[in-house]
Amino acid sequence: MPKLNPNLFLDDEFEVYADRRQHRLASYKPNYNPKGSPDEMIYEMTAYTGENLDFSYNASRHEREWILNSLSGFYDQQWFDDVLRVLKGGKEASVYQCSSNATTGTDFLAAKIYRPRRFRNLKNDHLYREGRVRLDADGNQIINGGMHHAMNSRSTYGLQLLHTSWIEHEYQALQILHAAGADVPTPYVRGDNAILMEYIGGPHMPAPTMNSIDLEGDEARSLFERVLGNIEIMLANDRIHGDLSAYNILYWNGEITLIDFPQAIHPDENRNAFRIFERDVTRICEYFERQGVRSNPRKIAADMWTAFNHRLMPDVHPGLLDDGNEDDMVYWQRYGNPEE
Ligand SMILES: Nc1ncnc2c1ncn2[C@@H]1O[C@H](COP(=O)(O)OP(=O)(O)O)[C@@H](O)[C@H]1O
Ligand SMILES: [Mg+2]
Repeated sequence: MPKLNPNLFLDDEFEVYADRRQHRLASYKPNYNPKGSPDEMIYEMTAYTGENLDFSYNASRHEREWILNSLSGFYDQQWFDDVLRVLKGGKEASVYQCSSNATTGTDFLAAKIYRPRRFRNLKNDHLYREGRVRLDADGNQIINGGMHHAMNSRSTYGLQLLHTSWIEHEYQALQILHAAGADVPTPYVRGDNAILMEYIGGPHMPAPTMNSIDLEGDEARSLFERVLGNIEIMLANDRIHGDLSAYNILYWNGEITLIDFPQAIHPDENRNAFRIFERDVTRICEYFERQGVRSNPRKIAADMWTAFNHRLMPDVHPGLLDDGNEDDMVYWQRYGNPEE
Protein backbone atom coordinates (compact mmCIF):
# COMPACT_ATOMS: atom_id res chain seq x y z
CA MET A 1 0.00 0.00 0.00
CA PRO A 2 1.36 3.43 -0.81
CA LYS A 3 1.56 5.84 2.05
CA LEU A 4 -0.84 8.68 1.41
CA ASN A 5 1.08 11.43 2.94
CA PRO A 6 -0.47 13.77 5.46
CA ASN A 7 0.36 17.38 4.98
CA LEU A 8 4.09 17.51 5.58
CA PHE A 9 4.54 21.15 4.85
CA LEU A 10 5.96 23.73 7.11
CA ASP A 11 4.30 27.03 6.38
CA ASP A 12 7.51 29.04 6.44
CA GLU A 13 8.79 27.13 3.43
CA PHE A 14 6.23 28.83 1.32
CA GLU A 15 6.55 32.33 2.70
CA VAL A 16 8.98 33.22 -0.03
CA TYR A 17 6.17 32.83 -2.51
CA ALA A 18 3.31 34.10 -0.42
CA ASP A 19 3.66 37.74 -1.41
CA ARG A 20 4.36 37.03 -5.04
CA ARG A 21 1.00 35.75 -6.02
CA GLN A 22 0.00 38.96 -7.75
CA HIS A 23 2.95 38.48 -10.12
CA ARG A 24 2.25 34.93 -11.03
CA LEU A 25 0.34 35.55 -14.22
CA ALA A 26 2.94 38.03 -15.41
CA SER A 27 5.82 35.65 -14.70
CA TYR A 28 4.19 32.49 -16.00
CA LYS A 29 5.72 31.34 -19.28
CA PRO A 30 3.86 28.50 -20.97
CA ASN A 31 5.57 26.40 -23.62
CA TYR A 32 2.23 25.31 -24.92
CA ASN A 33 0.76 27.05 -27.93
CA PRO A 34 -2.99 27.21 -27.73
CA LYS A 35 -4.64 26.61 -31.08
CA GLY A 36 -7.57 28.74 -32.14
CA SER A 37 -8.51 32.07 -33.60
CA PRO A 38 -7.33 35.26 -31.84
CA ASP A 39 -10.92 35.89 -30.73
CA GLU A 40 -11.18 32.46 -29.18
CA MET A 41 -7.87 32.94 -27.47
CA ILE A 42 -8.87 36.32 -26.05
CA TYR A 43 -12.09 34.77 -24.82
CA GLU A 44 -10.14 31.98 -23.15
CA MET A 45 -7.68 34.34 -21.59
CA THR A 46 -10.40 36.48 -20.08
CA ALA A 47 -12.74 33.63 -19.22
CA TYR A 48 -10.15 31.71 -17.18
CA THR A 49 -8.10 33.50 -14.65
CA GLY A 50 -6.17 31.79 -11.88
CA GLU A 51 -8.57 33.47 -9.47
CA ASN A 52 -11.10 30.81 -10.43
CA LEU A 53 -8.89 27.99 -9.31
CA ASP A 54 -10.39 26.80 -6.07
CA PHE A 55 -9.40 23.26 -5.30
CA SER A 56 -10.62 20.52 -3.00
CA TYR A 57 -7.27 19.53 -1.54
CA ASN A 58 -7.09 20.94 1.92
CA ALA A 59 -3.79 22.80 1.92
CA SER A 60 -2.33 25.12 4.52
CA ARG A 61 -2.43 28.80 3.63
CA HIS A 62 1.10 29.05 2.28
CA GLU A 63 1.02 25.74 0.50
CA ARG A 64 -2.19 26.93 -1.11
CA GLU A 65 -0.48 30.08 -2.33
CA TRP A 66 2.38 27.99 -3.63
CA ILE A 67 0.06 25.66 -5.55
CA LEU A 68 -1.86 28.61 -7.01
CA ASN A 69 1.36 30.30 -7.95
CA SER A 70 2.68 27.18 -9.67
CA LEU A 71 -0.43 25.73 -11.27
CA SER A 72 -2.94 28.46 -12.08
CA GLY A 73 -1.41 28.97 -15.54
CA PHE A 74 -2.13 25.31 -16.34
CA TYR A 75 -5.61 25.70 -14.94
CA ASP A 76 -6.17 28.69 -17.23
CA GLN A 77 -5.07 26.54 -20.15
CA GLN A 78 -7.64 23.94 -19.13
CA TRP A 79 -5.28 21.15 -18.31
CA PHE A 80 -7.06 20.32 -15.05
CA ASP A 81 -10.13 21.22 -13.02
CA ASP A 82 -9.17 20.39 -9.47
CA VAL A 83 -6.24 19.52 -7.21
CA LEU A 84 -7.40 16.43 -5.33
CA ARG A 85 -4.58 15.42 -3.03
CA VAL A 86 -0.88 15.48 -2.38
CA LEU A 87 0.73 12.20 -3.45
CA LYS A 88 3.99 13.04 -1.81
CA GLY A 89 5.42 16.13 -0.20
CA GLY A 90 9.15 15.60 -0.49
CA LYS A 91 12.34 17.49 0.12
CA GLU A 92 12.85 18.67 -3.43
CA ALA A 93 9.34 18.55 -4.86
CA SER A 94 5.73 17.77 -4.09
CA VAL A 95 3.48 15.80 -6.39
CA TYR A 96 -0.28 16.31 -6.56
CA GLN A 97 -3.06 14.28 -8.13
CA CYS A 98 -5.32 16.53 -10.21
CA SER A 99 -8.55 15.76 -12.02
CA SER A 100 -7.95 16.46 -15.69
CA ASN A 101 -10.03 18.78 -17.78
CA ALA A 102 -12.33 16.72 -20.03
CA THR A 103 -10.60 18.12 -23.12
CA THR A 104 -7.36 16.27 -22.26
CA GLY A 105 -8.94 12.83 -22.68
CA THR A 106 -7.55 11.57 -19.36
CA ASP A 107 -9.13 11.30 -15.92
CA PHE A 108 -6.17 12.44 -13.84
CA LEU A 109 -2.77 13.97 -14.15
CA ALA A 110 0.17 14.36 -11.82
CA ALA A 111 1.56 17.83 -11.11
CA LYS A 112 5.10 17.90 -9.80
CA ILE A 113 5.86 21.25 -8.17
CA TYR A 114 9.43 22.00 -7.21
CA ARG A 115 10.28 23.28 -3.79
CA PRO A 116 11.43 26.85 -3.51
CA ARG A 117 14.17 26.86 -0.91
CA ARG A 118 15.02 23.28 -0.19
CA PHE A 119 15.67 22.57 -3.81
CA ARG A 120 19.23 23.78 -3.66
CA ASN A 121 19.97 21.13 -1.02
CA LEU A 122 19.78 18.30 -3.53
CA LYS A 123 22.21 15.79 -2.11
CA ASN A 124 25.68 15.96 -3.68
CA ASP A 125 24.33 18.13 -6.45
CA HIS A 126 27.85 19.02 -7.58
CA LEU A 127 28.27 15.42 -8.76
CA TYR A 128 25.39 15.84 -11.15
CA ARG A 129 26.03 19.43 -12.18
CA GLU A 130 29.51 18.64 -13.40
CA GLY A 131 29.64 18.96 -17.17
CA ARG A 132 25.94 19.46 -17.59
CA VAL A 133 24.54 22.10 -19.83
CA ARG A 134 22.50 24.70 -18.01
CA LEU A 135 19.11 25.31 -19.55
CA ASP A 136 16.93 28.38 -19.38
CA ALA A 137 13.14 28.52 -19.01
CA ASP A 138 12.71 27.94 -22.74
CA GLY A 139 14.93 24.86 -22.70
CA ASN A 140 17.86 26.56 -24.43
CA GLN A 141 21.43 26.35 -23.27
CA ILE A 142 22.47 29.33 -21.16
CA ILE A 143 25.48 31.02 -22.74
CA ASN A 144 25.22 34.42 -21.09
CA GLY A 145 28.25 34.92 -18.82
CA GLY A 146 26.31 37.11 -16.38
CA MET A 147 23.75 34.36 -15.90
CA HIS A 148 26.49 31.81 -15.19
CA HIS A 149 28.06 34.17 -12.71
CA ALA A 150 24.70 34.61 -10.98
CA MET A 151 24.35 30.82 -10.73
CA ASN A 152 27.88 30.30 -9.46
CA SER A 153 27.55 33.03 -6.87
CA ARG A 154 24.18 31.65 -5.74
CA SER A 155 22.48 35.05 -5.85
CA THR A 156 18.69 35.04 -5.69
CA TYR A 157 18.54 35.43 -9.44
CA GLY A 158 21.16 32.69 -9.89
CA LEU A 159 19.22 30.29 -7.67
CA GLN A 160 16.10 30.94 -9.71
CA LEU A 161 18.07 30.10 -12.87
CA LEU A 162 19.45 26.89 -11.36
CA HIS A 163 15.98 25.95 -10.18
CA THR A 164 14.57 26.40 -13.69
CA SER A 165 17.45 24.39 -15.09
CA TRP A 166 16.63 21.35 -12.91
CA ILE A 167 12.99 21.46 -13.98
CA GLU A 168 13.96 21.76 -17.61
CA HIS A 169 16.34 18.82 -17.30
CA GLU A 170 13.63 16.63 -15.85
CA TYR A 171 11.15 17.65 -18.52
CA GLN A 172 13.56 17.10 -21.39
CA ALA A 173 14.63 13.71 -20.02
CA LEU A 174 10.97 12.67 -19.82
CA GLN A 175 10.31 13.86 -23.36
CA ILE A 176 13.33 12.09 -24.85
CA LEU A 177 12.81 8.85 -22.96
CA HIS A 178 9.10 8.77 -23.61
CA ALA A 179 9.69 9.24 -27.33
CA ALA A 180 12.29 6.44 -27.18
CA GLY A 181 9.72 4.03 -25.74
CA ALA A 182 10.97 3.94 -22.13
CA ASP A 183 8.52 3.28 -19.29
CA VAL A 184 8.18 6.84 -18.04
CA PRO A 185 5.07 9.00 -17.49
CA THR A 186 3.96 10.91 -20.60
CA PRO A 187 5.11 14.50 -20.07
CA TYR A 188 2.36 17.02 -20.90
CA VAL A 189 3.63 20.51 -20.22
CA ARG A 190 6.01 22.42 -18.00
CA GLY A 191 6.03 25.86 -16.47
CA ASP A 192 8.52 27.87 -14.40
CA ASN A 193 7.96 25.79 -11.33
CA ALA A 194 6.07 22.65 -12.24
CA ILE A 195 5.63 19.77 -14.65
CA LEU A 196 2.34 18.13 -15.58
CA MET A 197 2.58 14.48 -16.54
CA GLU A 198 0.61 11.28 -16.82
CA TYR A 199 -0.78 10.09 -13.51
CA ILE A 200 0.01 6.48 -12.63
CA GLY A 201 -2.51 4.74 -10.39
CA GLY A 202 -6.24 4.44 -9.75
CA PRO A 203 -8.78 7.10 -8.79
CA HIS A 204 -8.36 6.58 -5.06
CA MET A 205 -5.00 4.91 -4.96
CA PRO A 206 -1.82 6.18 -6.58
CA ALA A 207 0.70 3.63 -7.79
CA PRO A 208 2.99 2.53 -4.95
CA THR A 209 6.74 2.72 -5.38
CA MET A 210 8.42 -0.63 -5.98
CA ASN A 211 10.31 -0.67 -2.70
CA SER A 212 6.99 -1.32 -0.92
CA ILE A 213 6.13 -4.26 -3.19
CA ASP A 214 7.10 -7.91 -2.86
CA LEU A 215 7.21 -9.75 -6.17
CA GLU A 216 6.66 -13.42 -6.99
CA GLY A 217 9.44 -15.37 -8.74
CA ASP A 218 8.48 -15.11 -12.43
CA GLU A 219 7.28 -11.55 -12.16
CA ALA A 220 10.44 -10.55 -10.32
CA ARG A 221 12.63 -11.91 -13.10
CA SER A 222 10.62 -10.33 -15.92
CA LEU A 223 10.44 -6.93 -14.20
CA PHE A 224 14.17 -7.07 -13.53
CA GLU A 225 14.71 -7.55 -17.27
CA ARG A 226 12.30 -4.73 -17.92
CA VAL A 227 14.15 -2.31 -15.66
CA LEU A 228 17.46 -3.27 -17.28
CA GLY A 229 15.85 -2.69 -20.69
CA ASN A 230 14.89 0.80 -19.55
CA ILE A 231 18.41 1.49 -18.31
CA GLU A 232 19.62 0.46 -21.77
CA ILE A 233 17.16 2.77 -23.50
CA MET A 234 18.41 5.57 -21.28
CA LEU A 235 22.04 4.84 -22.11
CA ALA A 236 21.21 4.63 -25.82
CA ASN A 237 19.76 8.14 -25.43
CA ASP A 238 22.74 9.45 -23.47
CA ARG A 239 20.97 9.58 -20.15
CA ILE A 240 21.85 8.11 -16.79
CA HIS A 241 19.05 8.42 -14.25
CA GLY A 242 21.38 9.30 -11.37
CA ASP A 243 18.98 8.46 -8.54
CA LEU A 244 17.57 5.17 -9.70
CA SER A 245 16.27 2.75 -7.09
CA ALA A 246 13.03 0.95 -6.23
CA TYR A 247 11.94 4.25 -4.64
CA ASN A 248 11.80 5.91 -8.06
CA ILE A 249 9.92 3.17 -9.86
CA LEU A 250 6.13 3.02 -9.66
CA TYR A 251 4.34 -0.32 -9.86
CA TRP A 252 0.80 -0.52 -11.17
CA ASN A 253 -1.14 -3.43 -12.72
CA GLY A 254 2.03 -5.41 -13.23
CA GLU A 255 3.69 -2.53 -15.11
CA ILE A 256 6.58 -0.34 -14.03
CA THR A 257 7.14 3.38 -14.55
CA LEU A 258 10.45 5.10 -13.89
CA ILE A 259 10.16 8.59 -12.42
CA ASP A 260 12.17 11.47 -10.92
CA PHE A 261 14.74 12.65 -13.50
CA PRO A 262 15.94 16.15 -12.51
CA GLN A 263 19.46 14.90 -11.80
CA ALA A 264 19.80 12.78 -14.98
CA ILE A 265 23.28 13.13 -16.50
CA HIS A 266 25.02 12.60 -19.82
CA PRO A 267 27.43 9.62 -19.84
CA ASP A 268 30.19 11.46 -21.70
CA GLU A 269 29.92 14.84 -20.07
CA ASN A 270 30.37 13.97 -16.45
CA ARG A 271 33.57 12.52 -15.08
CA ASN A 272 31.61 10.68 -12.42
CA ALA A 273 29.27 9.15 -14.97
CA PHE A 274 30.34 5.53 -14.65
CA ARG A 275 30.33 5.68 -10.88
CA ILE A 276 26.80 7.13 -10.87
CA PHE A 277 25.69 4.59 -13.47
CA GLU A 278 27.14 1.67 -11.52
CA ARG A 279 25.41 2.89 -8.38
CA ASP A 280 22.05 3.03 -10.20
CA VAL A 281 22.50 -0.52 -11.50
CA THR A 282 23.64 -1.78 -8.10
CA ARG A 283 20.62 -0.37 -6.29
CA ILE A 284 18.29 -2.02 -8.77
CA CYS A 285 20.13 -5.35 -8.45
CA GLU A 286 19.96 -5.13 -4.65
CA TYR A 287 16.20 -4.66 -4.72
CA PHE A 288 15.72 -7.58 -7.09
CA GLU A 289 18.10 -9.73 -5.07
CA ARG A 290 15.67 -9.30 -2.17
CA GLN A 291 12.95 -10.54 -4.56
CA GLY A 292 14.98 -13.66 -5.27
CA VAL A 293 16.73 -12.59 -8.50
CA ARG A 294 20.49 -12.90 -8.16
CA SER A 295 22.80 -10.94 -10.41
CA ASN A 296 26.23 -9.39 -10.63
CA PRO A 297 25.70 -5.62 -10.67
CA ARG A 298 29.31 -4.69 -11.39
CA LYS A 299 29.44 -6.96 -14.40
CA ILE A 300 26.04 -5.81 -15.69
CA ALA A 301 27.07 -2.16 -15.35
CA ALA A 302 30.46 -2.67 -17.00
CA ASP A 303 29.02 -4.75 -19.87
CA MET A 304 26.28 -2.23 -20.65
CA TRP A 305 28.67 0.67 -20.38
CA THR A 306 31.14 -0.78 -22.85
CA ALA A 307 28.37 -2.05 -25.16
CA PHE A 308 27.44 1.60 -25.65
CA ASN A 309 31.04 2.53 -26.36
CA HIS A 310 31.64 4.46 -23.20
CA ARG A 311 35.05 4.26 -21.62
CA LEU A 312 35.15 2.01 -18.60
CA MET A 313 37.81 3.92 -16.68
CA PRO A 314 36.53 7.40 -16.18
CA ASP A 315 38.89 10.24 -15.45
CA VAL A 316 38.55 11.38 -11.93
CA HIS A 317 38.92 14.96 -11.00
CA PRO A 318 40.47 14.77 -7.52
CA GLY A 319 38.67 17.96 -6.54
CA LEU A 320 35.34 16.14 -6.81
CA LEU A 321 36.33 13.46 -4.31
CA ASP A 322 36.01 13.90 -0.60
CA ASP A 323 38.89 12.34 1.35
CA GLY A 324 36.65 12.06 4.40
CA ASN A 325 34.23 9.87 2.50
CA GLU A 326 34.89 6.14 2.50
CA ASP A 327 33.08 5.48 -0.81
CA ASP A 328 35.06 8.22 -2.52
CA MET A 329 38.33 6.78 -1.25
CA VAL A 330 37.45 3.25 -2.41
CA TYR A 331 36.62 4.76 -5.77
CA TRP A 332 39.90 6.67 -5.89
CA GLN A 333 41.83 3.46 -5.17
CA ARG A 334 39.98 1.62 -7.93
CA TYR A 335 40.00 4.25 -10.63
CA GLY A 336 41.97 7.21 -9.46
CA ASN A 337 45.41 6.44 -10.89
CA PRO A 338 45.06 4.15 -13.88
CA GLU A 339 48.76 4.65 -14.81
CA GLU A 340 50.13 3.35 -11.56
N1 LIG B 1 3.34 10.40 -12.49
C1 LIG B 1 3.07 10.03 -11.24
N2 LIG B 1 1.94 9.32 -10.96
C2 LIG B 1 1.68 8.94 -9.68
N3 LIG B 1 2.46 9.23 -8.62
C3 LIG B 1 3.58 9.94 -8.84
C4 LIG B 1 3.95 10.37 -10.15
N4 LIG B 1 5.11 11.05 -10.06
C5 LIG B 1 5.46 11.03 -8.77
N5 LIG B 1 4.56 10.38 -8.03
C6 LIG B 1 4.59 10.19 -6.56
O1 LIG B 1 5.29 11.27 -5.99
C7 LIG B 1 6.47 10.82 -5.34
C8 LIG B 1 7.60 11.83 -5.53
O2 LIG B 1 7.91 11.99 -6.89
P1 LIG B 1 9.40 12.07 -7.40
O3 LIG B 1 9.37 12.48 -8.84
O4 LIG B 1 10.11 10.80 -7.07
O5 LIG B 1 10.00 13.30 -6.59
P2 LIG B 1 10.98 13.38 -5.29
O6 LIG B 1 11.41 11.98 -4.93
O7 LIG B 1 12.10 14.21 -5.75
O8 LIG B 1 10.16 14.03 -4.23
C9 LIG B 1 6.75 9.45 -5.92
O9 LIG B 1 7.45 8.64 -5.02
C10 LIG B 1 5.35 8.94 -6.18
O10 LIG B 1 4.80 8.42 -4.98
MG1 LIG C 1 11.74 10.29 -5.95
